Amino acid sequence: MKTLIVYATKHGTSEECAKMLAQRLEGEVELVNIKNSAPPSLDGYEKIILGASIYAGNAQPEIKEFCRSNLEKLKEKPVGLFLSCMFDEESQIRAALENAFTPELVSHAAAACAFGGAFKMNRLNFFEKLIVKMVAKEYQKNGKLDGGYDGKTDISTVSDSKISEFAKIINAA
Ligand SMILES: Cc1cc2nc3c(=O)[nH]c(=O)nc-3n(C[C@H](O)[C@H](O)[C@H](O)COP(=O)(O)O)c2cc1C
Repeated sequence: MKTLIVYATKHGTSEECAKMLAQRLEGEVELVNIKNSAPPSLDGYEKIILGASIYAGNAQPEIKEFCRSNLEKLKEKPVGLFLSCMFDEESQIRAALENAFTPELVSHAAAACAFGGAFKMNRLNFFEKLIVKMVAKEYQKNGKLDGGYDGKTDISTVSDSKISEFAKIINAA
């Protein structure tokens, strides 16, 4: 039994999620960063996982394109879809999943969810830091983070238990 995980990442959090997931999956697992190498033919894999992160509401174009051009083949297999992002409302997550992977594939998927995201400040460029500080203010206003957030400290909302739950569903699929 072979599983392929194809993911896109900008600052490494989706990659960390993909690796955490790979450790929890049964059988052989192959990881492909779609920004560095073209994914292999899907024929040799029983299950396929796709992962991406969200910037200004959008997933990486490479993963969107991969999904759309392999849609029919993907729908023939058990599929898992994950996002690394800061959205925490179900409706926002669903919209982001459908935008990244197509509504059709989200409906087909055995598991589709957001694992949470991370702000690793030393990896962000000047403009990204500005945006994170603006987002931090919103978070403080909405009381979304315990104790508030200063916009300077690294933060991670990546959920170990969400990744384990996702792995359990894929192992049973
Ligand atoms: C400039 C910027 C814009 C972002 N925009 C969004 C967004 O629109 N929605 C969201 O849920 N998360 C957003 N995030 C959070 C990222 O999705 C999160 O940091 C994710 O873990 C990044 O994963 P990566 O390192 O694999 O690219 C944004 C982060 C940055 C730095």
